[in-house]
Amino acid sequence: MAQFSITRTTNPTSDAVRNAALADPGFGHYYVDHQVVIDYVGGDGWQDPRIIPMGEWSLHPAAATLHYGQEIFEGLKAYRRDDDSIWLFRPDRNAARFVGSAQRMGMAPLPEDLFLDSVNELVTLEKSWVPVSENEQSLYIRPFMIASEPYLGVREANNYRFAVIATPAGPYYSEPVKLWITPNYTRSAPGGTGTAKCGGNYAASLVATQEAAENGCGQVLWTDGAEHKWVEECGTMNIMFVTADGELVTPSLGTILAGVTRESILSLATMHDLKPVERPISIDEVLDGVDSGQIPEVFACGTAAVVTPIVGFNSPGRGVQQVGDGQPGPKTQEIRKHLVDIQYGRAEDPFGWTKRV
Ligand code: COI
Repeated sequence: MAQFSITRTTNPTSDAVRNAALADPGFGHYYVDHQVVIDYVGGDGWQDPRIIPMGEWSLHPAAATLHYGQEIFEGLKAYRRDDDSIWLFRPDRNAARFVGSAQRMGMAPLPEDLFLDSVNELVTLEKSWVPVSENEQSLYIRPFMIASEPYLGVREANNYRFAVIATPAGPYYSEPVKLWITPNYTRSAPGGTGTAKCGGNYAASLVATQEAAENGCGQVLWTDGAEHKWVEECGTMNIMFVTADGELVTPSLGTILAGVTRESILSLATMHDLKPVERPISIDEVLDGVDSGQIPEVFACGTAAVVTPIVGFNSPGRGVQQVGDGQPGPKTQEIRKHLVDIQYGRAEDPFGWTKRV
């Protein structure tokens, strides 16, 4: 267990202000009073794990992250149960993925134990910021790492900063989502950074999300870079299709993010009489299946979004199409409830996914 020094804020949020924030947190509007910071100094390794007041840092204007985008992040949640205990969901998976993202971006990998200790330390200190389970609220935890070395040559940085911040959060999407099948943009390609959780992937998605909005959709359905034929993921989430013959189909890993929620739902599928299938699935198969009823339900999944029903598509070739009756389908709702019940300790946790803080 790493030893963290703690410098407490001299200006803690009052109970009244915090309670008002927790009553309607939204997403990313409020932050807990402290943050974890750990620096990596080339040659000397990870140094000085510390908890300091939430607030600005100073960064040299030549810090490599500002110029060449060496940055990665994670997202996980802490849940308050009805007995007031606080639990994390599969934090080990985030710690492992963070190592993979660091390796892809040429950054110093953070030991998984240090990642887990950092998250635990911050949540332990900030327990009062974890909302009650009502309305599916939770504390969204954002570990991230930047290249902090000031140097304008293009190479891997020698110095990095890892930090953890946290924000109380309600549901990321309050309504079911429609997807725009963009002919113009690609999220990822073989050999690219699609499997890494790096900020650049999200920056590159923003213009496509604007295009989706112009076409009446909340998010983008990403297709493969070579042919725009194969489904990859949607918005910032993985995507799943329920078929009429009892399969839960989702695109194989390769150029998509290996979502923790995706992996968890695949493990739960058989408990909902669905056979989990990871395979390439084409846009034509999806849109034909939606029209014929062979694909009666579609949903997106991710830590922030949990399970979000997809109720329609719009594409240049085929125009607007509705999924099923345009409402969240029964399997989508069942799976969503099951996952959320495990996270809040209302259902058995057969795989030992939840970890008490
Ligand atoms: C998450 O679900 O944690 C994500 O990464 C989505 C986030 C970019 C809002």
